[in-house]
Amino acid sequence: MKINGWIALAMTPVIWACSGDGSTPEGSPASEQAFVLAPAPPMGFNTWNRFACDVSEELVRGIADAMVESGMRDAGYEYLVIDDCWQVERGPDGVIVADPERFPSGIEALADYVHGRGLKFGLYTDAGSKTCQGRPGSLDYEEVDAATYAAWGVDYVKLDWCYADTLNAPVQYRKFREALDGTDRDIVLSICEWGRNLPWEWAPEVGQLWRTTGDIWDSWQSVLWILEANNRHHEVAGPGHWNDPDMLEVGNGGMTLEEYRSHFSLWAIMAAPLMAGNDLREMTPEIRDILTNADVIAVDQDPLGVQGKVVLDRGYGFQVWAKPLADGSVAVALLNLRDSEIEGYVSWHLLGLDPGEARVRDLWTGEESSHTDDGSWDARLRAPVPGHGVVMLRVTPVAG
Ligand code: GLA
Repeated sequence: MKINGWIALAMTPVIWACSGDGSTPEGSPASEQAFVLAPAPPMGFNTWNRFACDVSEELVRGIADAMVESGMRDAGYEYLVIDDCWQVERGPDGVIVADPERFPSGIEALADYVHGRGLKFGLYTDAGSKTCQGRPGSLDYEEVDAATYAAWGVDYVKLDWCYADTLNAPVQYRKFREALDGTDRDIVLSICEWGRNLPWEWAPEVGQLWRTTGDIWDSWQSVLWILEANNRHHEVAGPGHWNDPDMLEVGNGGMTLEEYRSHFSLWAIMAAPLMAGNDLREMTPEIRDILTNADVIAVDQDPLGVQGKVVLDRGYGFQVWAKPLADGSVAVALLNLRDSEIEGYVSWHLLGLDPGEARVRDLWTGEESSHTDDGSWDARLRAPVPGHGVVMLRVTPVAG
């Protein structure tokens, strides 16, 4: 790899998948399957952040329609996942039963509807005896549930960790992965044990994504806390297996537009799964513009599959985040943690680039410019960064 600062990263064993050309990495069949299921971080929508237990087939159909009509599907959002509370009991045969009042047509018909809109369909369950909201969990029903989901047409399973205190996480999650592998469908496994059992050490072999933190909430403080925690595990992510800093809160009302832009930008720099969590049926144009920004999404989905990281952290509230990309560019976020505007800066050296000319695209304004950094202090690129905001750039060295 050409970019000096990232050579060490590329040599760690877990990054072997980052071939840069999107090809399947060499490795075990499990690695190949993981790669095929999630070569880039999964994108979609999940009901939890906005709707919690208020889920129904009417809601899910409405969201599926909105994903198509708003342009979210075409921007790359693929999975529509129903989180907790869709299930009420087990039948005499052990098969899980969906809430008959909220899902009168049944889950299979709903999955068909979602597929008919050109999307994929996901469900939530829990590795323990109950889900976090007290619904039946999958403990001891792993094979029955995997078979049921496959028969219904499920493409994605989020597996939570409530009522599981006495269990061994790697063992339980592997058990579910094997049950999914025993079906005739390719199913993404989203591991959700909040980073409690060091998932970065075992989850890449088991699931396509794993939560690294507790639950996000719709506030700037929560975003900052998650950024710090998720950044610690950047070496582990790569095509097929991703750190999951939790679903997006963009558009749920607790943050400013500036903060939502920062939240989305940093999730993209961290190659995070992008699961929208707002009401897509009634989002404002400003929120839609954040969630569907093609340049920012391209950073998240870049085939090199490196999780960007903090490359500069000034004590006064200014950070530089960077993510090398497959075409030799580097995505950069100048992040201002302070309440008021500051002048941000970045040098090519900090990005692992040689001195010289580069094209610079501002991914939020769309402005293109050229900047030459000859390595001197004065030649750093500078830009004003609003309070709690980012300036997000794609820096492409000009050959020669
Ligand atoms: C846990 C998970 C959340 C959500 C809820 C549902 O808290 O971390 O993402 O799935 O359970 O009860």
